[in-house]
Amino acid sequence: MAGITALSVDAPGDYLDADIAFQEIIAPYARHPAAQQMKCYIQHGTTTTYDHCMSVAHTCYKLACTLKLRVNMENLVTGAFLHDLYLYDWHDRTTSKPHHATKHPVYAHENALKYFEINPVVENIILSHMWPLPPTRLPKSKEAVLVTIVDKWCSLGETCKRFGRRLQR
Ligand SMILES: [Fe+2]
Ligand SMILES: [Fe+2]
Repeated sequence: MAGITALSVDAPGDYLDADIAFQEIIAPYARHPAAQQMKCYIQHGTTTTYDHCMSVAHTCYKLACTLKLRVNMENLVTGAFLHDLYLYDWHDRTTSKPHHATKHPVYAHENALKYFEINPVVENIILSHMWPLPPTRLPKSKEAVLVTIVDKWCSLGETCKRFGRRLQR
């Protein structure tokens, strides 16, 4: 989208030096109130769902650029950013939805369809990001495969950071 500056995304400082192309893709999604709502929920450790999604999107973008992968960058970044748009606190049993571990991609997909215009490739990225959980929800594109890998990598890093802090106490 035209006219969006490099510093226009309301994101952690780490991302302010990100490529303009990344920010041009992600800004309209990141600014949306539904996406902003992800700042209210913790994903892993002390990382919010918003920061987790931004981290997955940015890592996917950087990997695709560095490895010169032939991917559709818009689909990759959009799917990566929206992959956990389930919009509740999964730690809170009173507000969490049933079978979070396996079904949150379905809830995120419902919200992504509700708030954004997304194409079938992005839909599959969101729905399949927990693959092989369940094994039937298969990643059907290079972009979807990359998101399933990077999501697990970022999640591990966020969880380890939490335990590292505990050990330092
Ligand atoms: Fe997820
Ligand atoms: Fe995730």
